[in-house]
Amino acid sequence: MTAATQDIILQVTGLGKRFGGVDAVANVDLDVYRHETLAIIGPNGAGKTTFYNLLSGRMHPSSGRIVYEGRDITGMPPHEISRLGISRSFQINNIFEEMTVRENVEVAVTALRGEGRRWHNVASRNRDVQADADALLERLSLSELADQRAGVISYGDKRLVEIAVVLATRPKLVLLDEPTAGMTPDETQRVMQLVKSLGQSGDYTFLITEHDMNVVFGLADRILVMHRGQKLVLGTPEEVRAHPEVRRAYLGTADEEMAP
Ligand SMILES: Nc1ncnc2c1ncn2[C@@H]1O[C@H](COP(=O)(O)OP(=O)(O)OP(=O)(O)O)[C@@H](O)[C@H]1O
Ligand SMILES: [Mg+2]
Repeated sequence: MTAATQDIILQVTGLGKRFGGVDAVANVDLDVYRHETLAIIGPNGAGKTTFYNLLSGRMHPSSGRIVYEGRDITGMPPHEISRLGISRSFQINNIFEEMTVRENVEVAVTALRGEGRRWHNVASRNRDVQADADALLERLSLSELADQRAGVISYGDKRLVEIAVVLATRPKLVLLDEPTAGMTPDETQRVMQLVKSLGQSGDYTFLITEHDMNVVFGLADRILVMHRGQKLVLGTPEEVRAHPEVRRAYLGTADEEMAP
């Protein structure tokens, strides 16, 4: 596909968020193509999480516009944005530890159907919900853990359950905030493979923030480098790898890692 024919799922223009005197996100323009995996990198405090908070409606932008599938969603509340198909994971693990793995996913599936308040009654007799949850667990290779209490499974598996919960809302655009943070190398590989195969399935568009450069360069179709809230560089992994400003401003200490 050429750039001209690519379908834009999300169009961000002049997006900004100011906290006191700090521009956490500053005048960011970005077109996200449908079905791409776009990594967002940048040092601590670059504005990555704030950018997600703006896209998902958790925070109101100080300036700019967010258009999703042709609709202006700037300033919409999170539940409406989620209903339109944008779903996010959090930097901190965010699942119900007392529930089983399957129940965690069922709650998310049920919430999508607007039956959240009656989850216990509904889920116990709603085979569709269970079937949806089981299909998702299978897709994420979590079936064996379905009946385990989420609190007792490994940290890496918890983060996978969190991704299952995100996908249970049937999003089109998925925002993953450091999904491999704190993971062992094996766990990181597993998540990376999973996101890659989900991306290739053509069912999702992914934005993913990540500190591990191996993960980023192995996974992303394009990379957005943020620095002090601004868009520093946007391009293919090759373009970003070669960019002198990126090496200097962000990857200065990672030159060896970045060397071709
Ligand atoms: N709720 C808030 N109130 C005030 N300042 C904030 C708030 N959230 C973020 N900031 C500031 O905005 C800037 C960007 O923070 P943000 O968390 O978006 O960065 P990040 O790129 O996600 O960093 P990290 O890699 O550490 O997760 C930082 O200077 C941060 O201190
Ligand atoms: Mg962050």
